[in-house]
Amino acid sequence: MTSIDELLAERHIVVCTGAGGVGKTTASAALALRAADAGRKAIVCTIDPARRLAQSLGLETLDNEPHAVDSSAFKRKKPKGELWAMMLDMKRTFDDMVLGMTSRERAEAILANPFYQHISSTLAGTQEYMAMEKLWELHEEGRWELIVIDTPPTRNALDFLDAPRRLTDFLEGRFLRLMLWPYIKGVQGGFKVFGAGARVALRAVNRITGSELLSDVADFFAAFEGMYDSFKSRAGRVKELLAAKRTAFVIVTAPTEPSLREARFFADRLRAEGMPIGGVVVNRTHAVPDATGLEDPRALAERVGEGPLADALAVFADWRTVARREERLLAEELAGLGSLPVWRVPDLADDVNDAAALREVGALLAAD
Ligand SMILES: Nc1ncnc2c1ncn2[C@@H]1O[C@H](COP(=O)(O)OP(=O)(O)OP(=O)(O)O)[C@@H](O)[C@H]1O
Ligand SMILES: [Mg+2]
Repeated sequence: MTSIDELLAERHIVVCTGAGGVGKTTASAALALRAADAGRKAIVCTIDPARRLAQSLGLETLDNEPHAVDSSAFKRKKPKGELWAMMLDMKRTFDDMVLGMTSRERAEAILANPFYQHISSTLAGTQEYMAMEKLWELHEEGRWELIVIDTPPTRNALDFLDAPRRLTDFLEGRFLRLMLWPYIKGVQGGFKVFGAGARVALRAVNRITGSELLSDVADFFAAFEGMYDSFKSRAGRVKELLAAKRTAFVIVTAPTEPSLREARFFADRLRAEGMPIGGVVVNRTHAVPDATGLEDPRALAERVGEGPLADALAVFADWRTVARREERLLAEELAGLGSLPVWRVPDLADDVNDAAALREVGALLAAD
């Protein structure tokens, strides 16, 4: 079974994924820091990190650029390697992608288009796709040995796998373009015609896009003409990168039934897509050690009578019940995941938002 340290030493890309609120951002930052401590040049690309975590990584501004984490963040123990961090700005990533795909003039026309501005921040799946786009850019820059990517809290944790396709389908917009074709041709030919057909189309477009102006929509698609291929081939290359041998998906889950179900569903889906799964992080577990002589804490509590000792014994009994139930649940659900490495992190007393706490999480991951 691979340890987390082996994984961090061997892989070039680690994608932390899982249901909302399970600890993806925490795990991403902890893994990148652990790799940096081990001597690697690592970057973590976070998505909406909690404010205090962002501050401690020096990410006070959302500028969509990687920063070397300031050495003051690490107190006395500086990493042997390097830790870089960034916060994903989905809109800026989308803009940069457009800028990189076409002439400056045409890109600027697209960026200034109200319909583009609307879809680039609201279209379902865009955030997921932009996280993957950023991953591609960081990989292309070639400056980091390890790139750890956090993923957005999606209701459906699989969205980012479908996002490129959904987005290209949309941009390719067979349906939209079919309806708008006469109008697009008009824009390209330099004259704008608004017929009854266009008005019908407008109503349909409004329903789909929420955009007010048919002309914006048509201008957008006209400007996007010829870019579909670059868009599609980019999406294809991102997918190849995700499926590469030196990539690992780490599925983060809480020790609860719904979250473990989702993890299992996710593992199945990743396998079906041919994506390499590195392992599963079960975060915030509740282990209660068995104590000799305390096989039946409730009986003992009754014997000692009312008082602080009985209360403490009752708390111990409750926690042990929770822990045992969790243990059974994990045994059942994890068996269904196939033979994947599993790393557990206990529920810590405090939130994880500085280097010391991240290191603690990293050490717990490595110890399991
Ligand atoms: N093992 C742990 N012990 C205690 N607190 C933890 C632990 N792991 C994470 N947390 C805390 O739980 C909260 C949620 O964690 P995190 O932000 O990493 O989850 P997430 O999966 O990224 O959430 P989202 O889906 O909203 O992006 C944070 O406040 C974090 O500090
Ligand atoms: Mg998060």
